[in-house]
Amino acid sequence: KTTTGPAEAGSGFVVVANRLPVDLERLPDGTTRWKRSPGGLVTALEPVLRNNKGAWVGWAGVPDADVDPIIEDGLELHPVPLSADEVADYYEGFSNGTLWPLYHDVIVRPVYDRKWWAAYVTVNRRFAEATAKVAAEGATVWVQDYQLQLVPKMLRMLRPDLTIGFFLHIPFPPVELFMQMPWRTEIVEGLLGADLIGFHLPGGAQNFLYLARRLAGQPTSRGTVGVRSKLGVVQVGFRTVRVGAFPISISSAELDEHSRRRSIRERATKIRAELGNPKNILLGVDRLDYTKGIDIRLNALEELLLDGRVDPSETVMVQLATPSRERVESYIQMRGDIERQVGRINGEFARVGYPVVHYLHRPIPRDELIAFFVAADVMLVTPLRDGMNLVAKEYVACHSGLNGALVLSEFTGAAAELRQSYLCNPHDLDSVKDAIVSAVEDDRDTKRRRMRSLRRQVLAHDVDRWARAFLEALAQGQVAGSALLTDDDVYPE
Ligand code: ADP
Ligand code: F6P
Repeated sequence: KTTTGPAEAGSGFVVVANRLPVDLERLPDGTTRWKRSPGGLVTALEPVLRNNKGAWVGWAGVPDADVDPIIEDGLELHPVPLSADEVADYYEGFSNGTLWPLYHDVIVRPVYDRKWWAAYVTVNRRFAEATAKVAAEGATVWVQDYQLQLVPKMLRMLRPDLTIGFFLHIPFPPVELFMQMPWRTEIVEGLLGADLIGFHLPGGAQNFLYLARRLAGQPTSRGTVGVRSKLGVVQVGFRTVRVGAFPISISSAELDEHSRRRSIRERATKIRAELGNPKNILLGVDRLDYTKGIDIRLNALEELLLDGRVDPSETVMVQLATPSRERVESYIQMRGDIERQVGRINGEFARVGYPVVHYLHRPIPRDELIAFFVAADVMLVTPLRDGMNLVAKEYVACHSGLNGALVLSEFTGAAAELRQSYLCNPHDLDSVKDAIVSAVEDDRDTKRRRMRSLRRQVLAHDVDRWARAFLEALAQGQVAGSALLTDDDVYPE
């Protein structure tokens, strides 16, 4: 067993994620610049890490980049290099062609490829080794997401002095689906290297506890896991691993304040005018991903227009779609399908100069995005499956005036908290259509009542609370014996 010694000084708090919060961009003239990375993980973790003055270990987003560590505003960024083959096999392959569809209810069929698995093991080891070099003696390390599920065990073998947390940002699948995975035992054992394993929802934690018993053969607690409470326990030899549910969130107060600024309000009014001052602006904001149900909301809109329940002279839909995983086959196909659908709807229902669907395939600058949230009368969040969905919470945080309505898929983690949204089943097109019509047509008081309740939830449960709940539970687990399993836990009456 090799042991990498702790760095001389090192960081006391280290986040490890597939991506750094910024991506290196290579420009056509050969120069490079840093730009913000896509996705909810970065949105959530960046403010947490800036407050904790820690280090972040991650990939710079392009192959073969040999970049030195960067220290920016007290935050240390430590790039982990990936070769072009590793990007294809570990990132596009095993992470996004195997794990992503498997963990999202096999919406697309997962591919099980031995070469991809080998690359996943190699890259996870590289992340573990890089982290072992960066972390100070006794440091707390927080490993993030499905790309790095082997890191907790690998890191523990290198650095038994560390306290290791793991958080999964996507859903943890039902047991029957997880059992498809040829390397299921290795993944469960990889995660069990952590002291605390966090999921968004109790259901994910419960699934994991069952698999730890069945696949890793470890005794576990059997009581129900709560939200930020009643952690489950797995006894791994003399070590106690705790398992809990910690729903992630956003910097709600900051976004609330930002959305009230005069410049944002003025831009929102201008957006409305640029769209032809329609009565209703419907908005979608997503990475262009097949889990997000962008096709479903377009289908619903198309049928509502055909049925005459939505008037194309009064209604505009804006779909902002960040490019994502553009070389993965299922993403290429989905992009084509969605762009054809947008073309078909506009072909049928637009007037010259007045498209019904506006579709932008690029990331939108933050201020502009906030202005779109403010301008939108109805937010469409219709994933077939989503771990949380921060966009739903961002929309709510931007509606201090209590106007606006959120259409939200029951298959998002956010639906467990945002009960006063217009909930719909994305597998049932009538349910999506009815939710959109109610969100458009309900009277002002009903919408205000619903939005008030949503805002109470989002403002009271922000990303700081998420991070504090996780990190406090992680620290408490270090109090010797505090979570040891008793026979009563394992074999309740
Ligand atoms: P995921 O992590 O799967 O991408 P989330 O909804 O949890 O989904 O988080 C997405 C994050 O990316 C949010 O902070 C959202 O505002 C941002 N985002 C999504 N689409 C765009 C876009 N077109 N332009 C800019 N930011 C976007
Ligand atoms: O949790 C969702 C997530 O997969 C993150 O891990 C990731 O950073 C984000 O979405 C964006 O995806 P990608 O890094 O593949 O562009």
